[in-house]
Amino acid sequence: MPQSKLFAPVTIPTRAGRGLVLRNRTVLPPMCQYSIEQRDGVPTTWQLVHLGAHAQGGFGLVIAEATAVAPEGRISDLDVGLWNERQADAWKPVTEFIHSQGAAAGVQLAHAGAKASTYGWLKEYDDAGKTGSLAPEDGGWQTLTSTPSDLHGLDPAVQMTAEQIAESVQDWAAAAQRADRAGFDLIQIHAAHGYLIHQFLSPLTNQRTDQYGGSWENRTRYLREIVQAVAAVWPQEKALGIRFSGDDWVEGGWRIADTVRLAEELYAEGVRAFDLSSAGIGPFRGPSGPGYQVPLAQAVKQALPADAFVTAVGGITDPAQAEQILVTGQADGVSVGRAALGDPQWPNRAAKRLGAAMASPAQYWRGRW
Ligand code: FNR
Repeated sequence: MPQSKLFAPVTIPTRAGRGLVLRNRTVLPPMCQYSIEQRDGVPTTWQLVHLGAHAQGGFGLVIAEATAVAPEGRISDLDVGLWNERQADAWKPVTEFIHSQGAAAGVQLAHAGAKASTYGWLKEYDDAGKTGSLAPEDGGWQTLTSTPSDLHGLDPAVQMTAEQIAESVQDWAAAAQRADRAGFDLIQIHAAHGYLIHQFLSPLTNQRTDQYGGSWENRTRYLREIVQAVAAVWPQEKALGIRFSGDDWVEGGWRIADTVRLAEELYAEGVRAFDLSSAGIGPFRGPSGPGYQVPLAQAVKQALPADAFVTAVGGITDPAQAEQILVTGQADGVSVGRAALGDPQWPNRAAKRLGAAMASPAQYWRGRW
């Protein structure tokens, strides 16, 4: 059987213990499902079936969608959360099922900041032409941010006080503790896509004059405090990860050189899994097409020690393409999003194409692929 790098197991190092062993290097990236019609952030059978199907499909790591650390941090009121115990309890069967299928379970902890309180993807909203900020009569709430900005075209957010920032850091830590009790193996801190952490990092959305704005050290302080607070409560045997927007794709914004520098600093704090997306602040867009963000992953991979687990994401749809990204050393793993939404068995099909062993559940074993 030819050797496939994509289907070779890999270990994400942890601060103690043997590390998080993945059966292969395919990752289901977080994808909002906008499915919480009760508006209480409690995951439902939708999350169980959706994420479970991708675990059955052979993914090495399945990462649950942006999961809010506080109710006001939800992108929409249809989002999931981990700000209370009921939510943690409801995630348990999801992680148990993912594990039963041989995959590792990750969760993306998130706070949307100024990009919170928007209309989620619901047919009734589409039909009514409702987009952008959630109106108060539809349950909208006051959003928070680093510095108010009109770049997002949403209702104005309020600048967080130092006290609110401190409380928010504690929210991240408390959510991390619940993620542990819920059975997750990996936390991915959402520092990408123009959401709250990114709003602090990017000079385009941070004009603060206190200790959270201005200099490099100040703009990265909120994230570094989050990483330290999460690392203090997240078990040493579990894996700690981050998703960056590697580049704002505009002069004067957050650039790949900034990401590389911050990745190095966070490696020193114990972060070992790095996923490289891009954009999200304002309307700025960079390249598109197959593997359009791979160079961002490559830049971070080149700068970090060899044991970091760096994943590429965006426009990765084809098994040979995924294999090539790994063989050429551009990344250590690949995240496959939209291509797997319509095909949860993407990894198993890819394994077959690459001549590697499939991870099909016993129940599907006799299927003709
Ligand atoms: C996303 N994406 C995303 N990203 C993220 O960091 N947190 C999230 O919750 C979501 N939600 C989400 C929902 C849906 C429906 C889509 C399609 C995408 C972005 C996603 O993780 C991924 O980075 C992009 O889709 C690019 O990868 P693909 O789809 O080209 O493989």
